[in-house]
Amino acid sequence: FNSRSLDGVHLTITAGPTREAIDPVRYISNHSSGKMGYALAAAAADAGAIVTLISGPTNLPCPERVTRVDTISAQDMFDATMGTLDNCQLFIGCAAVADYRPSSIAEQKIKKDNDSMHIELVRNPDIVSTVAKHSKRPITVGFAAETQDLLHYARGKLERKNLDLIIANDVSNTAIGFNANDNAVTAIWKDGDCQIPQMGKSQLAAQLISLIAEKFFAAKN
Ligand code: C5P
Repeated sequence: FNSRSLDGVHLTITAGPTREAIDPVRYISNHSSGKMGYALAAAAADAGAIVTLISGPTNLPCPERVTRVDTISAQDMFDATMGTLDNCQLFIGCAAVADYRPSSIAEQKIKKDNDSMHIELVRNPDIVSTVAKHSKRPITVGFAAETQDLLHYARGKLERKNLDLIIANDVSNTAIGFNANDNAVTAIWKDGDCQIPQMGKSQLAAQLISLIAEKFFAAKN
């Protein structure tokens, strides 16, 4: 284990949830805490990487030696991510990006005048796939949070999103995944996979960063 395994490597990582505004006081979001992404950013900085952490709204402090860019919506996170690609060798998409946003944001607070209402949603851009299909493509790592058929869906995403590596976790188990302090994952690449058992997110992050560094240098050589 080389403790400076990502020395000097420019890394961009997305973390946390996004918020999609409905009106000036309401939004659609999800249960992501950002803990896994922040732990990865910290572990990568410890391994010598030059880290830009593109964060959705979280309550977490910015890890030491990490540059944080604060974003709110998926579109903000997309724009901030694209802005780093000129100087990015490795990308980790760890954010729980909202798949849809309201098609328009009401200018004023919506009143409860009706017994039911409809909010039309439109697709958000897929950040990790856009990165992986970009002409300045960095080595690209994604996450797959699933509640069923974890490995099957994760391998599908690896291929469809053109990723080098995908980290799959089972969010139906509340002891791991969203908001938990522990996680357990399976890392999957084109011709292999490896399981990392349940442990604290910072210890897991250090192991994942070692694996990602190995794949990064294997892909470069
Ligand atoms: O398709 P799904 O959301 O399950 O894929 C998860 C992976 O894709 C994660 O790496 C997540 O950060 C990324 N993603 C993204 N932009 C989106 C949706 C997901 O970067 N709009």
